[in-house]
Amino acid sequence: MSQADIHDSHSDSAAATGSAPETPGRPPFWEKGYGDMSVSTMGGPNHDIVELASALPPRARVLDLGCGEGRNAFFLAGRGHRVKAVDISAKGIRKVERLAARAGFEIETEVADLNDFRPTGSWDAILAHGVIDYLENPVWRELVGEIRAHTAPGGWNAYTCMLFTEAYPAPPEFLKAEFKHSIAPFELAGVYGDWEIVRHDRYVKWDQHPGIPIHCHPVDKLTARRPGGDGPAPRIEMVPIGDRVMPRDQFDGIDMGMDAAELLARCGEPAVIDRTTMDGVQLGVGPNTTVDGYHLSLWYYGSSVIYVVNDRVWGRALYNSVPIRVHFDER
Ligand SMILES: C[S@@+](CC[C@H](N)C(=O)[O-])C[C@H]1O[C@@H](n2cnc3c(N)ncnc32)[C@H](O)[C@@H]1O
Repeated sequence: MSQADIHDSHSDSAAATGSAPETPGRPPFWEKGYGDMSVSTMGGPNHDIVELASALPPRARVLDLGCGEGRNAFFLAGRGHRVKAVDISAKGIRKVERLAARAGFEIETEVADLNDFRPTGSWDAILAHGVIDYLENPVWRELVGEIRAHTAPGGWNAYTCMLFTEAYPAPPEFLKAEFKHSIAPFELAGVYGDWEIVRHDRYVKWDQHPGIPIHCHPVDKLTARRPGGDGPAPRIEMVPIGDRVMPRDQFDGIDMGMDAAELLARCGEPAVIDRTTMDGVQLGVGPNTTVDGYHLSLWYYGSSVIYVVNDRVWGRALYNSVPIRVHFDER
């Protein structure tokens, strides 16, 4: 599938979700996808969340803040966890509800603004993927304090943040969405100095969402475990990425939607392919709102990493940190 196909597949069918209102005063790019049941706006579950799932107790209590249309909430609910999904977007929450109803999953939902919403009770995991950077610095710092306080001993917090730089500035879509540039490098990790930081990935990733062109995100991904509890111990393994340097023009020439066979023909064998399989119905990528089985492979050419989902390229990244895999062994 070409980039043009991906754009065209986003027909203007916002009416498909019925009467969910626009989020007041905000027309960020994701609202269009959230209002369209025929596309996946953000793709399938994040690989760090899939990895984390094997550390969670059965029927874990999981809070997904800024859940969007629910790719991680949906994946975890499908594994039997008790998930609550929260987002400011009424359209996003409506889509979560409709997708969950179709799949027969239970997901508790709430439309709420994280400027005001604070977790209560005790959670085995609290996720905030791509959202705290839409809050001003004192607000997210206060929210993170509450997230930590309401995480059970041995429980998990997982964040993905965008740290745009002069070299990789925020694309217009992020500025229109009122992105705040409120997190400094290592600032969030610093807040977790007294927890076990299991993942702290830094990379720049290019991908595409329905209705907007390919763009890059400098990503700062943090997974931290609160001390205590008796869950499985994390074991960190460095990915043997090799020392190949992929020429930049070759990296830039890898289009979203490219067939894996074409990727192989153009770029040759990677040093390693890291495969993750999520069985059952999952949110898909681009025009595939849901898919039956989400097979994510990370193809490592040194620090150039290509994301292949169900045999097509759906992202590519340049890693600054050492890529790792996390395994969870019984204590
Ligand atoms: C980049 S999207 C990420 C969505 C989802 N976490 C994912 O990974 O697919 C950012 C999300 O944050 C939500 N958001 C932005 N500001 C928010 C706020 N103040 N309160 C709650 N949600 C917010 C948006 O509505 C949007 O769904």
